Amino acid sequence: MSAVNASLKLPLRADLAGMEPYGAPQLDVAVTINVNENPYPVPEPVIEAITQAVREVAGGLNRYPDRDFPALRGALADYLAGESGVKVPPEWIWAANGSNEVMHHLFTAFGGPGHPALSSSPTYSMYPEYARNTLTELFDVPRREDFSVDVPALLAEVKRLRPALLVLASPNNPTGTHLPQDDIHEILAETRETGPDGAATVVVIDEAYGEFRRDGVPSALELLADNQHLVVSRTMSKAFAMAGLRLGYLAAHPEVATKLMIVRLPYHLSAVTQAAALAALSKADLLQAQVARMRVTRDHMVATLRGMGLTVAESDTNFVFFGKFKDRQKIWQDLLDRGVLIRSVGPDGWLRASVGTEEETERFLSALKEVI
Ligand SMILES: Cc1ncc(COP(=O)(O)O)c(C=O)c1O
Repeated sequence: MSAVNASLKLPLRADLAGMEPYGAPQLDVAVTINVNENPYPVPEPVIEAITQAVREVAGGLNRYPDRDFPALRGALADYLAGESGVKVPPEWIWAANGSNEVMHHLFTAFGGPGHPALSSSPTYSMYPEYARNTLTELFDVPRREDFSVDVPALLAEVKRLRPALLVLASPNNPTGTHLPQDDIHEILAETRETGPDGAATVVVIDEAYGEFRRDGVPSALELLADNQHLVVSRTMSKAFAMAGLRLGYLAAHPEVATKLMIVRLPYHLSAVTQAAALAALSKADLLQAQVARMRVTRDHMVATLRGMGLTVAESDTNFVFFGKFKDRQKIWQDLLDRGVLIRSVGPDGWLRASVGTEEETERFLSALKEVI
């Protein structure tokens, strides 16, 4: 083997020079509540079902998987019908390795040079990365002080910019707040012809935390039937306790999936992923048994933090966003020194903690009491 040439340069794209890979710290500590996972381990019957399903496909791994995974799309459609009451045919579903990849497909197909995207910060920190990777210019209309979306300002920017994509997380990360259905309705009514060259602006409502919404908060899925330019994105990573599976999906009129098929890499969803996801969906009730419990813990966290005199945003998610600290980095570090890993993200002064098990949550709350 030839010696490594220290002066060799790699032809990295100029706009990527000096950038660091994205990712929250993965540290081995007692209480890990920094990435909004479901803290409960996968129940034994689900492990059994997944093991059996993977065993069944293992012998056929010499063949490429089904590119269009109709069985999985049907099972996801059935799941959504049960969860939100909105029934869509399997062709209205698209899936990929995490909703991260679903979003990447959307940006690849609809974004790109001359096809800008628009979002509303503070919001999920991966949106700028999807945009950067796909050479899409991303614009921002900052949220109001209470983290609500400034719809008039957003629509004014839509008219000016003619964006191909408008991406809004609801409930939002890191704030935990949801977008009222009337706002989504108004946005959809105003974006039918506001994209490049008179096309629609594709409105993506990222419902990664949809299952945690409080009673009475509707899903944007209810608006799908009347809006061909609406995409509702979901994931099995959060409520479903399947972050390690990497399965995200969307529901939209079938032309959306048809367009995304152009840009997906061939056979992007492995046969193992498809089999494991189908098995997990067959046990959805068991996997989601903890969601109600997590909502209770979430409300307890919000009330306790408010009781400690902190400002806490309303939460329709499995995390709480709280502040305001003069030096949030110090609080974050002091908690870490006590074996509790949370996330320092979003506007300065605020911190985010995910719902843990009851025991983890108490450890977090008492450590926080100590450090503030
Ligand atoms: C708003 C939002 N969307 C999408 C994702 C990505 O989820 P996935 O694991 O499905 O890629 C996250 C993960 O934290 C998120 O917070």
